Amino acid sequence: MTGHGPLPVRPDPASVATDAGTGGMVGFTGRYEKRLSDLAGVFLDEAARIRAVGDGDPVIYTVTEHRQEESELFFGTTRLSPGQVGGEYFMTRGHFHARPDRGEVYTTLSGTGILILETRGGRTAELAMRPGATAAIPPGWAHRTVNTGATDLVFSWVCSVDAGHDYGSIAEHGMRRLVLARDGRPVVANNPRFG
Ligand code: F6R
Ligand code: ZN
Repeated sequence: MTGHGPLPVRPDPASVATDAGTGGMVGFTGRYEKRLSDLAGVFLDEAARIRAVGDGDPVIYTVTEHRQEESELFFGTTRLSPGQVGGEYFMTRGHFHARPDRGEVYTTLSGTGILILETRGGRTAELAMRPGATAAIPPGWAHRTVNTGATDLVFSWVCSVDAGHDYGSIAEHGMRRLVLARDGRPVVANNPRFG
């Protein structure tokens, strides 16, 4: 007897094959899709979004995750389609983590885009997403990904299981910066509707 009590339960080591082109993961434990009809209020031009929903309601992004019982971390991929609505590129909803002390890591696997970040206090940042780029998202920074390329943008992410998501603030106020397509190129601009 060592006097140390029972060892905590820990998951077994695991290796998961991920397809860099599609974000598909062998043995994933969860998956969801967001279509344009799920993204009310995300784009500046709500009328253009509604028209595009009527034209076929495409899948905008798919999130695939791998989560093990008793692990403090989980990870997954997001595949974001190329395209535009009303001159804005397809993007994710964007969120703060519910816990202000939990960050995240994003690594781009294929495609190109921009990671838009901001704090509640008004700091902003934009990071280029290209294959091999790993972004450290510190605690307290909201994050949204924008596909500025002509192909799928696929990235992997790693996060604490207890980070949680706060979608409400961004759904209500938008983010301070947005990415517009001007002459076929991405331009970061101030959001005229912020606040
Ligand atoms: C998890 C995370 C990503 C996103 C995913 C979809 O904390 O940041 O897995 O959840 O890229 O984006 P949202 O959640 O903003 O719709
Ligand atoms: Zn996150």
